[in-house]
Amino acid sequence: MAPEAPLTSLDDLVASPFARLTALLAEIPPAAPPLDLSLGEPHAAIPAFLGPMLLAHVTEFGRYPPIRGIAPLRQAIAEWMGRRYPTLRGQVDPEAQVLPLNGSREGLFSAIFPARARKASNSAPAVLIPNPFYQAYAAAAAAAGAEPVFLDAPESTGYLPDLGALDEGLLARTIALYLCSPSNPQGALADRALLARAIALARRYDFLLFADECYSEIYVDTPPPGALETAFGHGESLANVVAFQSLSKRSGLPGLRSGFVAGDASFIAAFGRFRNVACPQVPLPIQHVSAAAWADEEHVEQGRALYRRNFAVADGLLKGRFGYRRPAGSFFLWLDMAGFGGGEAAAKTLWKACGVRVLPGTYLARLGADGRNPGENHVRVALVHDAHTTHEALARLVATLG
Ligand SMILES: Cc1ncc(COP(=O)(O)O)c(C=O)c1O
Repeated sequence: MAPEAPLTSLDDLVASPFARLTALLAEIPPAAPPLDLSLGEPHAAIPAFLGPMLLAHVTEFGRYPPIRGIAPLRQAIAEWMGRRYPTLRGQVDPEAQVLPLNGSREGLFSAIFPARARKASNSAPAVLIPNPFYQAYAAAAAAAGAEPVFLDAPESTGYLPDLGALDEGLLARTIALYLCSPSNPQGALADRALLARAIALARRYDFLLFADECYSEIYVDTPPPGALETAFGHGESLANVVAFQSLSKRSGLPGLRSGFVAGDASFIAAFGRFRNVACPQVPLPIQHVSAAAWADEEHVEQGRALYRRNFAVADGLLKGRFGYRRPAGSFFLWLDMAGFGGGEAAAKTLWKACGVRVLPGTYLARLGADGRNPGENHVRVALVHDAHTTHEALARLVATLG
């Protein structure tokens, strides 16, 4: 395989994995009806309360929403955080430490600007990004004129970056560290020790820890630890840490476009000022529905049950093959395709032979320190359909690759 060229332009940095997949498969007719496991789009049932509530507030589409959100939404979010992370109960000020977002992606992107402004005199800003990673992080770094520094997250370090191996000079010019836990694509969990290390570095070198926790509610049995509860445990403060959350995965509502950012009060204030002129507000009816969604856990448990059924199917069909392991969090499989020509070749084979669409790992990563793309031998498989569809797709995958 030809070595991947180094990335030089904004276009390269923001190349969408899904656009690349579409291009890869464009000329290949599938031999069976397509089954798409490439997209992390939950297919869980829409919570029953959503429709009536939306309707009850529909006239509020006629008003501009406040950028800081309505008080009941911020309150519902702070209360959810207190229930989910008991050490945070009563500790998150909904007035000063919570902002609603139109899904977490726009927040993960736009937060880089106030993070950059905090260190305005830094002439060579760096943004630390695990590799592989969610693509918005690199887009943010590029847009802020900062250097994206990709931190390898290989199997040997539990698919998470080794934060003990960072250079002092790099840390001094860092404006933000993105840390995704549970991680996309490998479903790895940052334990409290790793979170504590990230927080300590952010405080020592005065940068922001951007904790992307949008998969935190998709777990098998033990809820993953959070960055804010860990931060609070170190000095009873949320300084230098913000967590990004979303209803997209937790509530199976990716089309609602609703999430939040919470944490460090002075950063939230700066981000709020920036957002007030530069970012989209969350429509009022969506804010009401979101408050109800954060207050309800029943539909979330139903979503988890769906993923548990899918993982049981995957256990049955994939155990002992393709380096299969159940991820600790999220709904992705990260399958080893080294024996099938690598991730891209396997994605083509699967599409052509059986209509199963999976995402080559290469598209989610950049060249690592060893000059290799850490995703080159993998495909990401999203178990977001019902168990029947999941079974059909994985059975086709096994029949094709053996
Ligand atoms: C790791 C990660 N972060 C953030 C997002 C953004 O999700 P949303 O904007 O729907 O909250 C996604 C979506 O797939 C993701 O995988």
